[in-house]
Amino acid sequence: MSPLHVTRTLPEDATDAALRADVLHGLNVSPKSLPPKWFYDALGSELFEQITELPEYYPTRAEREILAARSGEIAAASGARTLIELGSGSSEKTRFLIDALTSLRSYVAVDVSESALTQAGQALVEERPRLDVHALIADFTAPLTLPDTPGPRLLAFLGGTIGNLLPAEREKFLASVRALLAPGDGLLLGTDLVKDERALVRAYDDAAGVTATFNKNVLAVVNRELGADFDPGAFDHVALWDAEQEWIEMRLRSRTAQTVKVPALDLAVHFAAGEELRTEVSAKFHREGVTAELAASGLELTHWWTDAESRFALSLSVLR
Ligand code: AVJ
Repeated sequence: MSPLHVTRTLPEDATDAALRADVLHGLNVSPKSLPPKWFYDALGSELFEQITELPEYYPTRAEREILAARSGEIAAASGARTLIELGSGSSEKTRFLIDALTSLRSYVAVDVSESALTQAGQALVEERPRLDVHALIADFTAPLTLPDTPGPRLLAFLGGTIGNLLPAEREKFLASVRALLAPGDGLLLGTDLVKDERALVRAYDDAAGVTATFNKNVLAVVNRELGADFDPGAFDHVALWDAEQEWIEMRLRSRTAQTVKVPALDLAVHFAAGEELRTEVSAKFHREGVTAELAASGLELTHWWTDAESRFALSLSVLR
């Protein structure tokens, strides 16, 4: 059995420095905001797994439905010998692709979470002893160096996570994706689609309150990592649809006027009663917009698959 190849491109303290910079900036600007990547400590990752099983949260099930039905077509269209997955997490849905890609020689999983990566990678190594498995601990929003594996390559970015990037960040991200690919290589992209506003808002404001707990978890992360004294109970979970931007926003609304201390940053932050902290943008797409954004990055959309209810799409595009 070939071993799991683990590469760490993130210095051990990079996460801490990035969190400090994001919190320092985000709590000093108006309106206040924090990037969604800080939800995902061990508890946040567990809460997200619970979200994916909620009746209201359809994206995970819709994407799994597409992968289950279309992996054969995706595999035939890409012919990939290397599959690279960005933000792979537990790699659960990827199994459909790995099993369908008959010429697959290498699988490269890229994630910031070392525990998720090595667990999933080790399981795969045991199951597929002839597959060359790499776990790359890296932040895919920064420039990446990939191991030298055979082409053609298929880069998968699933889950609709591209929607967490603001338009300018998406443009930068797609440019860096393009830089990783050679002509003929493909991008498999998961995008949640614009739909009825009530269905969208419900998916981010579930009846059981799991998403509210997930949203407030970012405050617990800042408390633990930076010694802050956020009281999660002093904030309300808010999920709203921005029809202009076509994105869901999650916010935390301060129930009262309060001052929060962040000792590690020597910071005291005032919140007015009702003041909101934006914690996530989750953009929703139309086929035309996805096609145009990909084309602007040199990628030609060749396939578009949706679930039966057209809630979510997987697109395959190729670098010209
Ligand atoms: C994992 C980024 C795709 O935006 O739908 C779920 C995260 N936030 N519920 C999303 C999330 C609130 C999720 N992504």
